[in-house]
Amino acid sequence: MRGMRVVVIVMALVIASAVVPDCLAQKEGAVPDAISVIHSRKSVRNFTGQSVEKEKLDKILRAAMAAPTAVNKQPWSFVVVTERKTLNTLRDGLPYAKMLGQAGAAIVVCAIPARAYDGMVEFAIIDSSLAGENILLAAEALGLGATWTAAYPYKDRMDVVRRALSVPESVIPLNVIPIGYPTGADKPKSKYKPENIHWEKW
Ligand SMILES: Cc1cc2nc3c(=O)[nH]c(=O)nc-3n(C[C@H](O)[C@H](O)[C@H](O)COP(=O)(O)O)c2cc1C
Repeated sequence: MRGMRVVVIVMALVIASAVVPDCLAQKEGAVPDAISVIHSRKSVRNFTGQSVEKEKLDKILRAAMAAPTAVNKQPWSFVVVTERKTLNTLRDGLPYAKMLGQAGAAIVVCAIPARAYDGMVEFAIIDSSLAGENILLAAEALGLGATWTAAYPYKDRMDVVRRALSVPESVIPLNVIPIGYPTGADKPKSKYKPENIHWEKW
């Protein structure tokens, strides 16, 4: 009887040691589900000024490149900016990207028409835009904030980005996405409008 009790206790300990660390790991690295991330994403324009860890930037870049592209051409490149001086140059040159002054980093999504399906600019822009949305969602999922700020289609803004980051003329700097730790001031907007939905026909 006593032997039986010992066996049961030992088995319980073995099972607990296998299960508990898994539970803890899940809790520590807990990432919200995709639908929650989509709905909690918002343009974040208020940052604490804290820098962004390289591991998080790597995760965001991996998410960017997981986006779909026409005929899987992946016609893009990403310029990651972490130097304060360069972030400030972009802030000063772009009219609606003043939050770069407090952002910890920025990612510039670059579309490369020569690498797109049929060499089409349109596919380069569409494909790279999908990568851009993945960046915004990944930032949200990692507890960071981000905003798409426009370079394309404004020639003057694209020139500012090209000059600051040495982007070649054949490449389109689509945007500048400031990334950082949010102060909490920015909130998601409610944009669901049933009148925008047409079931079966327009
Ligand atoms: C193509 C595009 C260009 C944008 N350009 C800017 C910009 O230059 N500066 C800025 O602060 N926000 C910019 N935004 C962010 C929009 O203002 C924002 O997405 C919109 O107001 C909806 O708010 P939400 O992102 O919080 O849902 C841009 C968004 C897109 C998709």
